[in-house]
Amino acid sequence: MDLNLSGQVAIITGSSSGIGRACAIALAREGVKVIINYHSDAEGAEAVRQEITQRGGEAISVKADVSKEEDVEDLVESCVQAYGHLDIMVANAGLQADAAFTEMTLEQWNKVINVNLTGQFLCCRAAARIFRKQGVHKHGRAAGKIVCMSSVHDEIAWAGHVNYATAKGGVKMLMESMAQELAQDKIRVNAIAPGAIKTDINKDAWEDEESLEKLLTLIPYGRIGQGEDVAKVCAFLVSDAADYITGATLYVDGGMMLYPGFRDNG
Ligand code: BGC
Repeated sequence: MDLNLSGQVAIITGSSSGIGRACAIALAREGVKVIINYHSDAEGAEAVRQEITQRGGEAISVKADVSKEEDVEDLVESCVQAYGHLDIMVANAGLQADAAFTEMTLEQWNKVINVNLTGQFLCCRAAARIFRKQGVHKHGRAAGKIVCMSSVHDEIAWAGHVNYATAKGGVKMLMESMAQELAQDKIRVNAIAPGAIKTDINKDAWEDEESLEKLLTLIPYGRIGQGEDVAKVCAFLVSDAADYITGATLYVDGGMMLYPGFRDNG
């Protein structure tokens, strides 16, 4: 399928590693000019930029803390300055700061809510303002496309990760309410909810055999996901092939949402 994304411009937050990195590379492969946003891993961002440009793609990297309003404004501004327009926002940046509920500090709570939820609000708002001003132009049928990176934990409760699950539950309602409000402006807003994808964020769950085996009992499809599994869905969602999809959450999880514990139980 030709996704016809060539010449479009995308910001992918938190794309110096993990799922964000895979999305940046996949979109660049489709001819999208990519802004690789990072918070502190300048080296990682530079490696992604080089990987893209060596394959003939276009990319710049921009440092910004997505939880800070001025940083997000500057990020979007530097994109418009570099490329003249913006077509795609992938609000991906996220982190975990895990703790048992009764041990969780206010700092851990705030950190995760600020980056994973407020960060998405700030990035989506900044992008939507530009999309609305731009209107539908020569690049595609929509005025702009937003993908919020969610998680199976927008639905599945997660002991020991209450801050993270709460933020992702919030992302679901943020995404759906934005989609409802912005559809009249021809802005499409969707979410991808990954399950267990092999990245640094969940290293504990896959780095030794025993942990991986335990993790796999949660995944009917029988394998851990790769960044590319998510990135391909992201490329589809921001393309005109998905022009009639808005307000949807696509679970990319090998069936984790099917609650496999019920296979022979209940
Ligand atoms: C989390 C991972 C976890 C996965 C499935 C993701 O959103 O970031 O750490 O492995 O959900 O539980």
